[in-house]
Amino acid sequence: MAKQIIVGVCAGISAYKSAELVRLLCKADYTVHVVMTKSAVKFIAPLTFEALTGHRVYTHLFESQHPSAMDHIELARWAQSILIAPATADFIARLRCGIADDLLSTLCLATTAPIILAPAMNQKMWSNPATQDNIQSIQQRGIRLIGPGIGDQACGDTGPGRMVEPQQILDQLSDADAADNLLTKRRVLITAGPTREPIDPVRYISNHSSGKMGYALAHAAINAGAKVTLVSGPVAISSPQTATTIQVQTAKQMHDAVMGHISCQDIYIGCAAVSDYSPAQVSTTKLKKNADTLTVILNKTQDIVRAVASSHADVFCVGFAAETNDLEHYAREKLRDKQLDMIIANQVGIADGGFSSDNNAASVLWNNGQQTFSLRSKKRLAVDIIKIIAQHYYASKHTT
Ligand code: PMT
Repeated sequence: MAKQIIVGVCAGISAYKSAELVRLLCKADYTVHVVMTKSAVKFIAPLTFEALTGHRVYTHLFESQHPSAMDHIELARWAQSILIAPATADFIARLRCGIADDLLSTLCLATTAPIILAPAMNQKMWSNPATQDNIQSIQQRGIRLIGPGIGDQACGDTGPGRMVEPQQILDQLSDADAADNLLTKRRVLITAGPTREPIDPVRYISNHSSGKMGYALAHAAINAGAKVTLVSGPVAISSPQTATTIQVQTAKQMHDAVMGHISCQDIYIGCAAVSDYSPAQVSTTKLKKNADTLTVILNKTQDIVRAVASSHADVFCVGFAAETNDLEHYAREKLRDKQLDMIIANQVGIADGGFSSDNNAASVLWNNGQQTFSLRSKKRLAVDIIKIIAQHYYASKHTT
């Protein structure tokens, strides 16, 4: 099915790649309208895009005197998605603030369609805390990013900031389109982050989970149309705006929050690194270091994912397995033992992947099959995992 897309072009040297991007989109059956910023026309002529799309190119906010022109509200309503490539640092900053002083920024404010950015800028501008802050803020509003890529830049620098190649942008766009609405009207409960088990008022037992994997899953599930409840241990990531987020500290609190919200869910994903043990006694005062050794007695915590699987057969139950060795062997054991529908096995204790890293590799295992995903960003992996969960969730509904 052809999709209606606006391609926004900002003023950057990689605007020359936008022509190829538009050509590929047209070839892939998208109907494309191009909107250029005032300065973008200094890098590439509107005529190029007119020839490629067969439609006039929009460059100004007030040009409705042209007979075939749509005004900005019409355009905003027409678009099924807006892809801005290249998206400059300046445009991203204006988008973050909701400034509407030209056609492209006004469209972004007036549309309800998903907005996707392919950033392109000098690597220092990309790494600048101001840009990173803007990126974090717009991502929380649901704006998606493709790239930037890492490599040689037109200015002679090397680093992150290159616009991703047009074919890759198209591939990611098609993947996202396929994932869109996959979980519409489904309710998904996701746990993320570590738990903290107090020993005394100043010390606790915990682990290295940053919450990145679980939060990426929450974003991916939201983008797939799901209503997400996120039960999160203490992490330094802001909650997705459209999720219901419940903040907890301990394994017991996480257990109670999950069990209190599980009955109306369709899918449960246990991504949190829940402490397996908790101190039997919590001192009310700071423990003194009088003795050479200290013994802390630990009690097993309640296994949350097991409790969900055994008490709610109607909920599609997905666990994670974090292992340092014999990954698939231990993961299959957990899949069987905890009676899960699916388990995601990932290796921990390695430099790139597992805990804290922005990247991860995983094998998704179910009763009689598996699929392996090589190392990629956790955001990308989350989209892949949500897709495979959705497939198996719907298949399970057909067989019951
Ligand atoms: O947060 P990041 O830094 O991005 O790192 C991601 C991650 C490595 C934490 C994540 O990908 C991951 O593997 N999460 C599961 C960690 C874990 O606790 O694995 P496990 O093999 O010990 O536990 C198996 C399953 O039982 C998990 O689904 C876990 O949530 C669940 N469990 C464990 C103990 C318990 N008391 N209750 C549980 O529900």
